[in-house]
Amino acid sequence: MHEFKYKNNQLYCEDIKIQDLAERFGTPLYIYSYHTLIDHFIKLQKAFCEIKPLICYSVKANPNLALLKALVDKGAGLDIVSGGELFRALKVGCPTNKIVYASVGKTDQEIEEAIRCGILFFNVESRPELENINRIANRLNKTTNVAIRINPDVEPKTHKYITTGKLTNKFGIDFESARQILLLRKALSNVHILGLHIHIGSQITESQPYIAAITKMVDFIGHCYKDGICIEYLNIGGGLGIIYDKETPQTADTFAKKILPMLKKTKLKIIMEPGRFIVGNAGILIAKVLYIKSTPKKKFIIIDAGMNDLIRPALYDAYHNILPLRCTSYELRCTEKVDVVGPICESADFFAKNRKLPYFKEGDYLAIMGAGAYGSSMASNYNSRCQPCEVMVKKNKAFLIRKRENYKDLVRKEIIAVQIS
Ligand code: LLP
Repeated sequence: MHEFKYKNNQLYCEDIKIQDLAERFGTPLYIYSYHTLIDHFIKLQKAFCEIKPLICYSVKANPNLALLKALVDKGAGLDIVSGGELFRALKVGCPTNKIVYASVGKTDQEIEEAIRCGILFFNVESRPELENINRIANRLNKTTNVAIRINPDVEPKTHKYITTGKLTNKFGIDFESARQILLLRKALSNVHILGLHIHIGSQITESQPYIAAITKMVDFIGHCYKDGICIEYLNIGGGLGIIYDKETPQTADTFAKKILPMLKKTKLKIIMEPGRFIVGNAGILIAKVLYIKSTPKKKFIIIDAGMNDLIRPALYDAYHNILPLRCTSYELRCTEKVDVVGPICESADFFAKNRKLPYFKEGDYLAIMGAGAYGSSMASNYNSRCQPCEVMVKKNKAFLIRKRENYKDLVRKEIIAVQIS
C-alpha cells in the first residue's frame, strides 16, 4: 500500500531512515515516496486498462511541481481549478490536450488563458459560465471544448464539507437545466459541448454512490442521443477514499469491477480525476516533540508542526495515524492517552485527541501519516509560521522538492507605504 515501513525498528521511507531525513532537513518536514505515488497511479491505470481512461491527477490534492512532473512523465493528465494550477501544469510540460478545468468561479482572465493554450475542455458549472466562455472564445476568434458538469444529486456518504454531488451543493448543473443547455447548444457557436462530467465528493469509500451517479448519467446520455446530441467523453471525477484509520475503501480493482461494465456500455471516452487516491498515502509529515505538558486533566504532546502545516484535523476532524520513528518493544508497551497539539494559538490546533499513543519524550520525532493529499496544498502562514520543506524519496536517494520558507519569504509581498504613517 505504501512504502513507509519499519525495518529493524526504525521507520523508513523506501530505503532511507526517516530519522536521518529529519536530522538532515529539519522539521516540520513533508516526505513523499516516489514509488508509492507512481504505484497508485499505475494501479488505477491497470484496473481500468480495458477502457484506457485518461487519468487526470487532481492538482489541488498536492500541486508540487516535482510530483506533477513525475505523474505527467508516466502519462497522467491534470485536473485543474485555477489559472495558477494551469500555470503549474504548463510548467511541467503537461500536454494541453490532457488538461481539464473545473471550478464554479472561473474568471475571464483564467478562461482566456485556458482557451489560448488549448486545454482538452472546461468542466462548465453553470449556464452563465458557459455563455461567458462562448463570449470570450468568440472575442478570441476561437472555438473551445466544454463538458457540462452535472450535479446528479447523490449522497456520497462522506464529510459534509467534501460532499459535492447533492443539489444543495454549489457544484454542477441539475439534469433538467443541463438538457435545456444541450438543446440550445447551436446558439453558442464558439463552444463545442463534447462531454459530461460529475464529481460527487471526496474520500468516498464505497462504490454505491458512484454506481448511483453513473446510472443516472447513463440514463441521461440515452436521452441526449434521442435528442440528437452526441457526447464523446464521460468524466467521472475523483473522490476515491483511502485508509487513514480503520476505513476499508475499495481498491482500484474492486472499484473497476463495479463500474467498468457500466462505463463500457456507454462507449464513451472515460476521464477520471483522482487526487487523494494517488498522493494521499504517498506523503507523511514529520514533526519534533518540543514539550510534554501535563495538566490536571490531560497530557499534551506539543510538536513543532501546527494546523497551518496540516489543517485536516482542525477543519474536518480528520484522523491521521501518528507513529514513532523508533518502534522497539519499549515504545509499543508504554502507551498512554494524550493530545498531540501544535504551537498555534487556537484550540483547533491538534493532530490527535485522547489518543492512545506510544510513549514520546522531548526531542523525539513523530510521523503523521496519510498527509500527502490536502496537507501541504492547504498549508498557510498563519501565526507567521514558515511553511515546511518537502522531500521526495526514490529508493535510497532524497531530493529536496520545496525549500523551507524563511522569515524574508513571509514578508516578501508586503509593502509599508510611507504615506500611511
Ligand atoms: N475533481 C474535482 C472537480 C474536485 O473538486 C476534486 C476535489 C477532485 C477531482 C479530486 O478529489 P479526490 O480524488 O482528491 O477526492 N480538502 C479536502 C478534500 C477536498 C476535495 C476537493 N475537490 C480534504 O482534505 O479532505
